[in-house]
Amino acid sequence: MKNLLTTHKLITVTPLLLILSFSAQASGSGEHEHEHKKMDHSKMEHSKMNHGGGHRHSSWATPPAAYAKMKSQIWNDAGAAKRGEKLYATNCSSCHGAQGTGNGPVAKSLQHPPADLTNHFHKAPGEGDAYLFWRVSEGGQVEPFKSMNSAMPSFKASLSESQRWDVLAYVHQHFHKGFLNAKKQKMDSHDDKGDEHAHHH
Ligand code: HEC
Repeated sequence: MKNLLTTHKLITVTPLLLILSFSAQASGSGEHEHEHKKMDHSKMEHSKMNHGGGHRHSSWATPPAAYAKMKSQIWNDAGAAKRGEKLYATNCSSCHGAQGTGNGPVAKSLQHPPADLTNHFHKAPGEGDAYLFWRVSEGGQVEPFKSMNSAMPSFKASLSESQRWDVLAYVHQHFHKGFLNAKKQKMDSHDDKGDEHAHHH
């Protein structure tokens, strides 16, 4: 019984000692000032950024080995984007929206909001190809997206491989508006706002 009491005392006393010695160190003056800094709990890590109802990922998950080598040869192919436009309208826009920002008619009813496809990390040909192809093929039916309650369907059964690249060519040309690196160079050399508006259908 005596032992138990001492242990109990130690447990309650130790954290207090730690706080005291820490604050003494921090203030430098040797005085025991207690300042309880308020933690900001409002800044949730997985915050939903509302750009037209869409959801932006800050990083890309690594695709599994089976997809790692997937590459598109048709990123800038106008015909592919044209075929992809139709595929997008029937298969994707209900969630991702006609403008790709993630605010399609179905979006509001989903637990995990559809991704904003205008936000991207596609730096150069080959970088990000595998990720995008994996996502369209397996959707949210695989980890880590499954645990996030992603409703994104898998398209590997309903769209052929070339159709999946076509729809991605459309996403690339119309929502990404090219590769990030190329865009940066372009923006450095001249203002391309003008021709962005010229591409209206
Ligand atoms: C039923 C709704 C729904 C449909 C239909 C849908 N998606 Fe998605 N999609 C989502 C959701 C929700 C997410 C975000 C969660 C996730 O990453 O799985 C997402 C994520 C993505 C991502 C990942 C983006 C990123 O930033 O990581 C891509 C790419 C994508 N979708 C493309 C498509 C394409 C292309 C189609 C059509 C062939 C399509 N989606 C159809 C709901 C949908």
